[in-house]
Amino acid sequence: MTHPGGPSRLWPDRVRARLDDVVEGGRWRAPREFDARGPVGLLDGETVVSFASNDYLGLSAHPTVIAAAGAALERWGAGTGASRLVTGSRPVHSALERALARWKGTDAAVCFPTGFAANLGALSVLGGPGVRVLSDELNHASIIDGCRLSRSMASIYRHRDTAHLCAILEADATTPTIVVTDTVFSMDGDAAPVAEIADLCRRHGALLLLDEAHAVLGPHLSPDLLTDPDLTLVRMGTLSKTLGSLGGFLAASEDVIHLMVNQARPYIFTTGLTPADTAAALAALEVLRSPEGDALVRRLSDLVARVAPPGRDADAAGWAGVTVPASPIIPVILGTEQAALEASAALLAAGLWVPAIRPPTVPAGTSRLRVTVSAAHSDDQVALLVAALAPLRQREAGTDANVDADAGPLRGSASDSTGGSGTAPTRVGVPDGALIRSH
Ligand SMILES: Cc1ncc(COP(=O)(O)O)c(C=O)c1O
Repeated sequence: MTHPGGPSRLWPDRVRARLDDVVEGGRWRAPREFDARGPVGLLDGETVVSFASNDYLGLSAHPTVIAAAGAALERWGAGTGASRLVTGSRPVHSALERALARWKGTDAAVCFPTGFAANLGALSVLGGPGVRVLSDELNHASIIDGCRLSRSMASIYRHRDTAHLCAILEADATTPTIVVTDTVFSMDGDAAPVAEIADLCRRHGALLLLDEAHAVLGPHLSPDLLTDPDLTLVRMGTLSKTLGSLGGFLAASEDVIHLMVNQARPYIFTTGLTPADTAAALAALEVLRSPEGDALVRRLSDLVARVAPPGRDADAAGWAGVTVPASPIIPVILGTEQAALEASAALLAAGLWVPAIRPPTVPAGTSRLRVTVSAAHSDDQVALLVAALAPLRQREAGTDANVDADAGPLRGSASDSTGGSGTAPTRVGVPDGALIRSH
């Protein structure tokens, strides 16, 4: 059957209809123009302070980092021209990879164009139709997509629930298994029980893939874990958050890294990181690992403690076992999309940019403000934020009344899997669609 408007209208009409759905669903988004270096800048002509960025230590605007990027641009030019396997690496690529491996306590490291690509690379190379991937239900979108791409048998375990993870591990002792978790969850800011998960992996011979994209304040891995001969550990990180640049990396044994270089399509079939981004990340890492970096981390920790709610302690629901403060990501959960959007707009009117995060990024009924604090914020900026958040915190306490009408139970209801391979996965108790969150 031909399209009513003729074949030439088929695709424009499909695209238009999809966009109309987005608008009708109240989910229209577009990036705003923020003219800024650091947290303060002009948003639509108004000066605002941003609490939206993952530039946790303010290193994107550090003079040494900017100078290193400038010098690399001068020396090697803007781009690398092709894949590193085709045109070669610049010396700064290898220097950064050596520095990343030293930082993470591994034999070797390899960079990817983004953190997203690093997760795709890790899971697509290590996973596969004969491999199980066990993934926390709140893992990042790049992990979800990596599971799909790998065509592994993916199962989701309940958020931070090691008993659930253990039960899934025990259900199958023979299939090669990967356990993957964010160490700090990007929309909730809570931390994975890394030591317990590592212990389970060691006992069951599972490979542990840790996404440490937001781990600026921890959790830090114990030295025993890094040298444990019975644990296969792959540490994923990004250059774009704490290090203020762009790119991602995997740090692991030499064999794992060689396998990535030889088989990871997001490494092989893409142009190498730009010299400027690479040099910026290397300079930022040097700052981070200096006394100045220690001071920045302490400053960040101090500011987070001022903003994090008083109830965010080890006994609060959902926070058991988390070192406080766990991270610079502080959610204020308001329930409905409308409540989150209105709160974000009210803060903006007061000169504070705190994004509203809504489905599909977070489950329905948990729309929220996502506050991120940076060492680059001043005391006054943080004090303003704390005052502005106070009334919202009271509303957060009564979130149940705000829950979206269409919000299903968040956990423990139905079953889900990525199902990419068509192979029957282990069925675990999380809702359908848990793997189609976009962040
Ligand atoms: C947990 C997590 N992993 C991976 C990524 C992807 O990193 P990148 O932004 O470098 O692609 C993000 C980005 O937000 C993230 O939050």
